[in-house]
Amino acid sequence: MSYKGSQAYDNHAFFENYMARRKREQSPNEVMETPVFLEKLGDVTGKHILDLGCGDARFGYGLLQRGCEHFVGVDGSKNMVEAANTVLEGTKGSVYHSPLESWDFEKHTYNVVMSRLVFHYIEDLQTIFDQVFKTLSNQGRFIFSVQHPVLTSSIESATKSPKKSNWIVDDYFNTGQRIEPWIEEQVIKYHRTTEDYFAMLKRSGFSIEDISECSPKRENFSSEEEYKRRKRIPLFLLFSCKK
Ligand SMILES: C[S@@+](CC[C@H](N)C(=O)[O-])C[C@H]1O[C@@H](n2cnc3c(N)ncnc32)[C@H](O)[C@@H]1O
Repeated sequence: MSYKGSQAYDNHAFFENYMARRKREQSPNEVMETPVFLEKLGDVTGKHILDLGCGDARFGYGLLQRGCEHFVGVDGSKNMVEAANTVLEGTKGSVYHSPLESWDFEKHTYNVVMSRLVFHYIEDLQTIFDQVFKTLSNQGRFIFSVQHPVLTSSIESATKSPKKSNWIVDDYFNTGQRIEPWIEEQVIKYHRTTEDYFAMLKRSGFSIEDISECSPKRENFSSEEEYKRRKRIPLFLLFSCKK
């Protein structure tokens, strides 16, 4: 069986395993993607922020600590929403259980819409980008990361040893569905080129201000060996856009 969208995260064993990986020390999300994401977000004081595919909302919790006025998370996984409710308890943050595809994006509501490592699960991303444009206030910002297109192009390397030192890039311009073996399950993802993301954003009306591939910075790593390994394969692609 192949899992679509957030379904895999509602498989208990998958969820537990994913959370353990996500929270481990030196996880690439923490040492590579998070610092760039925070830098691109900048000062969040007084901001109204929507997080698409918020997971356990730990990131949202951090934003509220940093002065964000209003945080709303949406996630399609029941397990994630339960975890997020626990994390956000006693804060001004709230979380909703919904697939992004059927979420009601209210007009001109948020200063910032963000999403971390979710959009490669979405088949019709153009519609989501159009909806994000609609829900942002004027001059609002849209910041998101995806799995790097080099990784999503071909799954051939996905089953190789966990400490990979190279990655086979194949079928790069053959975009569309991939079924990836991940955490002992088969997960459906959608491969797009960097150019595709760029073109879709422009079609929805966004100005693209910046992109980042979250290159590793030595000061964020406790191990020289891990830093060197992470310099080999790009893992993340991040876009900062404006309405
Ligand atoms: C890799 S996790 C990232 C979670 C969180 N953004 C983070 O960085 O910690 C992907 C998340 O996207 C959610 N997701 C995937 N497809 C979705 C969809 N179609 N609608 C809503 N949520 C979705 C999953 O449930 C999961 O929580």
